[in-house]
Amino acid sequence: MPRQLHRPTAPSQWWQDAVIYQIYPRSFASSGGPIGDLPAITARLEYVASLGADAVWLSPFYPSPQHDAGYDVADYRNIDPRLGTLEDADALIARTHELGMRIIIDLVPNHTSDEHVWFREALSAGPDSPERERYWFREASTDAPPNDWTSIFGSIAWTRVRERDDAPGSPWQDDPQWYLHLFDSSQPDLNWDNPAVHAEFRDVLRFWLDRGVDGFRIDVAHGLAKDPELPDWQYHWTMVEGSDADAASVPPPPMWDRDGVHDIYREWRTVLDEYGPDRMLVAEAWVSPGDRLAQYVRSDEMSQCFNFDFLSSQWKRDDLRAVIASSLRAMDAVGAPTTWVLSNHDVVRAASRLGLSHTGKGPNGIRATDEQPDPELGARRALAAHLLMAGLPGSCYLYQGEELGLPEHTALPDDVREDPAYFRTKGVEAGRDGCRVPLPWRAQAPAFGFSPDGQSWLPQPPEWAAFAVDAQEASTSSTLNFFRRMYALRSELALGHGGLEDVSDAFPGALAYLNTAPADAERGDILILTTFDTDVSIPEDWRVLLASAAPGSAESTTWLARA
Ligand code: NOJ
Repeated sequence: MPRQLHRPTAPSQWWQDAVIYQIYPRSFASSGGPIGDLPAITARLEYVASLGADAVWLSPFYPSPQHDAGYDVADYRNIDPRLGTLEDADALIARTHELGMRIIIDLVPNHTSDEHVWFREALSAGPDSPERERYWFREASTDAPPNDWTSIFGSIAWTRVRERDDAPGSPWQDDPQWYLHLFDSSQPDLNWDNPAVHAEFRDVLRFWLDRGVDGFRIDVAHGLAKDPELPDWQYHWTMVEGSDADAASVPPPPMWDRDGVHDIYREWRTVLDEYGPDRMLVAEAWVSPGDRLAQYVRSDEMSQCFNFDFLSSQWKRDDLRAVIASSLRAMDAVGAPTTWVLSNHDVVRAASRLGLSHTGKGPNGIRATDEQPDPELGARRALAAHLLMAGLPGSCYLYQGEELGLPEHTALPDDVREDPAYFRTKGVEAGRDGCRVPLPWRAQAPAFGFSPDGQSWLPQPPEWAAFAVDAQEASTSSTLNFFRRMYALRSELALGHGGLEDVSDAFPGALAYLNTAPADAERGDILILTTFDTDVSIPEDWRVLLASAAPGSAESTTWLARA
């Protein structure tokens, strides 16, 4: 029996069915030097538009000491001089719009950099000052930190002021306090109980809305509201997956996914609404189950949230089937579009992850001495996964390089690593550098054309020549050209606005969905068929529209229309 999972939707917001391309500025393209920059992005936006992207999302470009690749922001109203200027940002925004795309920028409200003026003022002003009230400074009665919280990047979540490297000789060298950082010690957490923090971020939102950005990706959206008592909580929340602890046996976390965060997003919604109905917020919230996550996208809060359950799912029929159904159910319950995502700058790239023996969210980075992914299997499954995802209703997020089938760098030498997770876990986790390696543009150029002078902040593996944009442009059967066909057809058929019926019961071992036509679309149902370890026969009376490999063969996805 077909099971209706979702009804077709009428277009009302641009992001409902958008393909959103994530640009990681450090690693997209450079106009000279080892770090990518804004003018080089602007020069290549046509490439992004040629993929069929409706919007770009830019990871942070703000002035930053780059201890966490820019997620440690020193000034929310400017551009890191290594990446460009505010004029360059204006040009980038204008060019994105000229090409008919929208632009989403990253906002990091859970923490600032320790080089932000507020934190410098807090250090100087000392205990009991209003400056310290913008963060979480506490004294401890013993030599132990004020509580037992751990950093997402490993080790304790507190640093003693007097133990900072810059303490000797400073006015705070005998300071009795510690400060909280749920990430690196260079990323002190802001105190969102303080009205000054609210006022500051409302103003930052307006600063960028005035410059024309269409939306914000909200970093660690589930972390802002802390229990002011800061009670002990011995459990660990992990990046992207959140908690896999059995909710019944674990007390609610005093720092993650507390109800208070929603007041902040309601406040921001009213700010965005001052600019009309077209500006959006997307939540990076490592929260499950789906109905908790859906609270972030109620009609008076954010517009959409990343679907990390989909990203973290095992590549298994029943797991994916359950995630697809529960995602649509949870988002439909609050009237928000569902999103789909397979990769970003925090996880092992899908083309490698899906070639590992365990295909869930995967390890935090892969080293040469770790289990190596099967490259053919990973690439084949990643393409199948993208074609499945693009056939589902809602919006798709694509991380730069996925359109090239780019794998993870799994053999980076440890001495080039920059991810704080590598350092804070003392190398137990390789960290995220392997998914952040600069893109290959030209097969025969130094640094594969990432920069004109051949510099690249991380070395690229030699086998990336075969993945370079110019090599793939030249071949009709390349992954790059496949992505172009896929998104063009998705848009032509309005699949993002379709309804969804699960017909998998008729295809044992496979996943099968009917994407049903929205009211004004002149098309019939589209059958989306994803196979796993066995071949499946293509049903009679259907014709193939697009397939990630031989139609119906193992580890593939096929789109079909009635013959
Ligand atoms: C999530 C971001 O995606 C990640 O890269 C960063 O390290 C943390 N938030 C902290 O800002």
